[in-house]
Amino acid sequence: MKAAIYPGSFDPVTYGHIDIIRRASEMFDVLHVAVLDNKAKTPLFSVDERVKMLKDVTCDMPNIVVESFSGLLVDYAKKNDIHVSVRGLRAVTDFEYELQIAQMNRLLSKGSLDTIFLTTSLEYAYLSSSGVREIASFGGDFSMCVPPEVEEMVKKKYESVRKAD
Ligand code: PNS
Repeated sequence: MKAAIYPGSFDPVTYGHIDIIRRASEMFDVLHVAVLDNKAKTPLFSVDERVKMLKDVTCDMPNIVVESFSGLLVDYAKKNDIHVSVRGLRAVTDFEYELQIAQMNRLLSKGSLDTIFLTTSLEYAYLSSSGVREIASFGGDFSMCVPPEVEEMVKKKYESVRKAD
């Protein structure tokens, strides 16, 4: 069985991520979408919220496993016997960072974890989670970036942030 892992922060998941998930899921028997639980950062959404969001938006795809992970990606991959990591490339500006992660993971895994890159579909090339957060924080329209259920969750999150201020 050919499995791959698509790791990320997904804070929040965008149409760009979903496009990569759909395309990668057609190339592998199982695609693990691994949501980073980074204790050193304060994300907008908790890791449980991000996992739920991803499960919701991939519910029509039968071969997706959504899980959180903390620590090194290579450890998650080894535990699940996965040898391919998938990442999306939007533009050449992504490449340097992605190349570094890919090479680091290959080194850390002693050659066991390779990375393949899918180029983001052109209509999503401008999308980023940080862009969504910024637009949402100023009350702008980001409906072109995320599915309606995610849009709702992001709006609610910023409403509660504003109330708490
Ligand atoms: O969506 P992101 O934030 O660009 O994803 C980055 C991610 C999760 C792929 C990367 O930060 C990661 O794999 N972190 C886990 C820690 C790790 O394995 N680091 C070594 C590779 S640099």
